[in-house]
Amino acid sequence: MREFLIAGNWKMNMLPTQAKMFVQELSGTIDETLHQNPTIRTVVCPPFTHLAGVISELTSSEIAVGAQNCYFKETGAFTGEVAPSMLKAIGCSYCILGHSERRSIFGETDEMISQKVKALLAVSVTPIFCIGETLDERESGQTNVVLEKQIRAVFEGLTLEEVESIVIAYEPVWAIGTGKSATPEMAEETHSFIRELLHSVANQFGHKLTTKILYGGSMNAANAYDLLSKPNIDGGLIGGASLKVQDFTSIITSAISLQ
Ligand code: PGA
Repeated sequence: MREFLIAGNWKMNMLPTQAKMFVQELSGTIDETLHQNPTIRTVVCPPFTHLAGVISELTSSEIAVGAQNCYFKETGAFTGEVAPSMLKAIGCSYCILGHSERRSIFGETDEMISQKVKALLAVSVTPIFCIGETLDERESGQTNVVLEKQIRAVFEGLTLEEVESIVIAYEPVWAIGTGKSATPEMAEETHSFIRELLHSVANQFGHKLTTKILYGGSMNAANAYDLLSKPNIDGGLIGGASLKVQDFTSIITSAISLQ
């Protein structure tokens, strides 16, 4: 049976009360189905200010909650930052890291993202580690070189258990928020390259790595089935379409039909 992870990246949207109403509606619509389909996991990632409220709405739900970023230090004089142990303490089980918006707008480097991944693993919060190439990089044939650099910066030196406890989200930058998703064939080709690369970085050739590789970038209710039907696409990191209960549940339902 295939396992899928469907993750909603809310970015900087909604107010806390709207977020609570949203997850009430979402869990009312999909929780029973998720309960009956334990190989499909779902997570929503609201802004920091909404986390506690959303977590308390979802205490008896199958839907997990994640943050969108964290710092790599555990405590100290880091004004404005949030530590992995703080996320863990309020009940976050996932945290998105290295999203292209954080890389391009906030100057996050591979080195910072690598430290953040390790800090999350240390407190058993699952990193959703984002990688992806820009349009220029794809058009100049650099996609695999860029992805390899991003992956090696984080994965080199990790144990097999650590490699398998990270979720990768492949998000071509040109597909994020543009309505122009990668074709299922293009995404599958890149996911399969990423999986091969993981085997080589982790030096694990006999054992099929269970590391989940999600696709992100304009995944929606209309294209989710075709993308998820590809063997190396283990789920989605969804921005815009995760802000509408109907669209998000329809993506979850596509995963259920393919498990
Ligand atoms: P999108 O965003 O689905 O709106 O393209 C995906 C993401 O940025 O994670």
